[in-house]
Amino acid sequence: MKPLDSEAPDTRVRQFREALGAFATGVTIVTTRTRAGVDVGLTANSFNSVSLEPPMVLWSLAKTARSLPAFLESSYFAVHVLAAAQEELSHTFALRGADKFSGLTIERGRGGIPLLDGCSARFQCRTAVKYEGGDHVVFIGEVESFDHFERPPLVFHGGRYAQAVAKPRAAAGSEASEPDSSFSEDFLIFLVGRAHFQLFLGLKRDLERHGLTEWQWFVLSILGVRDNCTVADLDQILWRTGTRVTYELVAGLAAAGFAQLHGSNDPGARVTLTEDGRRVVIELVAAAKAIEAHAENNLGFEEAQLLKQALRSIIRETDPGPPPLNSPGYTE
Ligand SMILES: Cc1cc2nc3c(=O)[nH]c(=O)nc-3n(C[C@H](O)[C@H](O)[C@H](O)COP(=O)(O)O)c2cc1C
Repeated sequence: MKPLDSEAPDTRVRQFREALGAFATGVTIVTTRTRAGVDVGLTANSFNSVSLEPPMVLWSLAKTARSLPAFLESSYFAVHVLAAAQEELSHTFALRGADKFSGLTIERGRGGIPLLDGCSARFQCRTAVKYEGGDHVVFIGEVESFDHFERPPLVFHGGRYAQAVAKPRAAAGSEASEPDSSFSEDFLIFLVGRAHFQLFLGLKRDLERHGLTEWQWFVLSILGVRDNCTVADLDQILWRTGTRVTYELVAGLAAAGFAQLHGSNDPGARVTLTEDGRRVVIELVAAAKAIEAHAENNLGFEEAQLLKQALRSIIRETDPGPPPLNSPGYTE
């Protein structure tokens, strides 16, 4: 417990702010227009609902804000609930007094107030009540009209921007019955490996139909976007996914009629796709995209983005660098 009078004022304000940061909020931009016709706005996370009938909302504005006189004199304001993609805009509107509207597409709402696009929801309000609350002024507005755009929201928590992800529903049955071991369901390496294996199962049947191994498919898929690579180029790209690309591996693709090798048995030999190879790549990429779309659909857009973000971060942190030369299995 922290009695509020036990610390120096600076420490107290910081600790109070940090404790408030435990409350996850959305992020809004509140806008208005002065009588002289100047557009004004700021980033605010103090927004909240007050009443459903009549519809009312509130937010609070620091008395030190440059925009205070504009909000005090105007009869209207608009609250824009920001979408996850609007972090930059939030930064811009958190700058003090800057020209925050330049380059933005603006519509005009009630009383000529500026309305921004791209947000998740937008409330046009008539200022109903203003209260002084310590170092802030609390504005309560009666909502006269609103828009709801169903975009995923931007979140603010612990002093940082975040994304909202729905909690998974409690796993019924299958997860609980998994055998407990050191590779338990909470072990990251196990989870990544098993997820890769299971996602790949759908494609394996297609690969087998064409007599392809997983690694040969990886080579073909790279040639699909970067034809005419050398064996060494392919090795450079693929070694980070766990395989070394050798002349022999590519020769197997050439024997199956999917690729053509130009040059002798060395890493500088160039590889191109044959007509058959290109046809198979198009077919398999379509199958892989269908599997991906299905998985992303199950996760939902935000969770899929977060998962990719986390995996990219692991990949960045654990990047082993270029492939070691003359390592086992690689013939130069
Ligand atoms: C996520 C976030 C939430 C904020 N919430 C508020 C708020 O609720 N009220 C407020 O007065 N300032 C808030 N601010 C700070 C203002 O956006 C900032 O002080 C801005 O410079 C004020 O602009 P102005 O001085 O041009 O009026 C917030 C800033 C951020 C980044």
